[in-house]
Amino acid sequence: MMKRLLTLLLCLSLLLCLATQGEGGLAYLSDFSGGLDGWYARSAGGASVETDGSALLITGRSASWNSPGRDFALEPGVTYDISCQVMQAEADSADLMISVAHSKGGVESYENLATVTAKKGRWMGMKCAYTPGQYDKFVLYVETKGAPELSFSIRNFTVTARGLNAQSDLPSLSALYSDFFDFGCAVTQMEALNTARMDFYASQYNIMTPGNELKPDFVLNVSESRRLAKQDESAVAVRFDSAKPLLNYCQKNGIKVHGHTLVWHQQTPEAFFHEGYDAQKPYVTREVMLARLDNYIRQIMEYMDKNYPGLIVSWDVVNEAVDDNAAKLRASNWTKVVGEDFVNRAFEIARKYAPEGTLLFYNDYSTPYQPKLTGISKLLDSLIAEGNIDGYGFQAHYQLSSPTLAQLSAALETIASKGLLLRISELDIAVSALNDSVYDLQANRYASLMREFLAYSDQIVAVHTWGVTDDLSWLTNKNPLLFDKNLAPKPAFWALCELMQEEP
Ligand code: GLA
Repeated sequence: MMKRLLTLLLCLSLLLCLATQGEGGLAYLSDFSGGLDGWYARSAGGASVETDGSALLITGRSASWNSPGRDFALEPGVTYDISCQVMQAEADSADLMISVAHSKGGVESYENLATVTAKKGRWMGMKCAYTPGQYDKFVLYVETKGAPELSFSIRNFTVTARGLNAQSDLPSLSALYSDFFDFGCAVTQMEALNTARMDFYASQYNIMTPGNELKPDFVLNVSESRRLAKQDESAVAVRFDSAKPLLNYCQKNGIKVHGHTLVWHQQTPEAFFHEGYDAQKPYVTREVMLARLDNYIRQIMEYMDKNYPGLIVSWDVVNEAVDDNAAKLRASNWTKVVGEDFVNRAFEIARKYAPEGTLLFYNDYSTPYQPKLTGISKLLDSLIAEGNIDGYGFQAHYQLSSPTLAQLSAALETIASKGLLLRISELDIAVSALNDSVYDLQANRYASLMREFLAYSDQIVAVHTWGVTDDLSWLTNKNPLLFDKNLAPKPAFWALCELMQEEP
């Protein structure tokens, strides 16, 4: 009796452990040994699910979305590893997918997370990582691509929240470098929604840049602008929903924000440049475009000053305007509609509305290479002549051996000698293989680049890495950052710490 009670208690504690592990509080396994476990058939009525004690079978399907599904209380911003096995015995092969249906304000939308081609009669596995956005309901389900009537089974459906397990006793990069410059990172909305993750970032970085959320694609409200344009072609509607989680966190926790980016040829709605905000209609005139730009920048500055006074210490006014292969501006909607002085006009407008003391930057990549360096230099000279620019942002998406230190140092000298402030705005170092020796090379490379930056610390206001953990980097397969997916420091992190302990 006692033994059975102990076994029961052990089972209960194991179950509890499964249900509560992980930073998001979720570690879940459906092996169907205990019944349907909350799974149901998603269909208009025809399909049904049943279990044989080890797998869940769906039959009676008539559409590819008819599926076994289950509601999960997922937390926005937490990363989940999801896996399951599938088997079908009706077709030579069929594609099955793990998908998610999420709802916000009662509106449901969908994402496909993983796909596997299942050969007849064989159990096949599929897995994925999923970081939910800001939705209020999540259903995970397994559907088919085509094959609307196929019956199939699933088993071992697991959902595990990635624990952060961040080390709390690490040295802090921003503290170590505080005599020289701010230490910053880019953060996307997903990350900003996860407070535990953000608390770790805040222990390392004292300035943050929204990775996407202040770009025109996110800020310009096209449908509302279209409505306003019926009365006034120069009207612009803006919104800040995507940037708010990061801005709120930074405001609450005393972290500075660098705004990125007011003007760019990419991630900008095509409609911005067209009559009636309709991409099918002709371009607007230069005058209308400049008036739209004025309204756009004015409203951003006013909104930030009202809601987040003093938070945004600097802005990238224009991003990547210079051509890669010739010392001139790249052709873009901006050069077509406004003309070759669009960068100058953007700085003039930004200066007009930016709160006193806000630093205005021009930001670009491939700075150490010709003919781009000459093109950037020419542009900076014309901006300096007009007196509205404070600094230049070196993006610094680099590799292990490119650019050479000589190329980098020559570029730093060329730009620094103009008397501008500098920002290393998007530092990352791409490597391919995942092994210790590559990580050591990456660490050495971070240290050598940092030595170059330290030589210009009088002019550099901040060094920002473009992201924090490799798994959430834009170059996720190239492991370019200082922390791994578990927030564990990589050799590159330690190399940057050690540099501060070296004798001068
Ligand atoms: C450029 C942009 C950034 C970002 C990166 C890639 O460097 O300036 O905003 O989009 O590309 O993520």
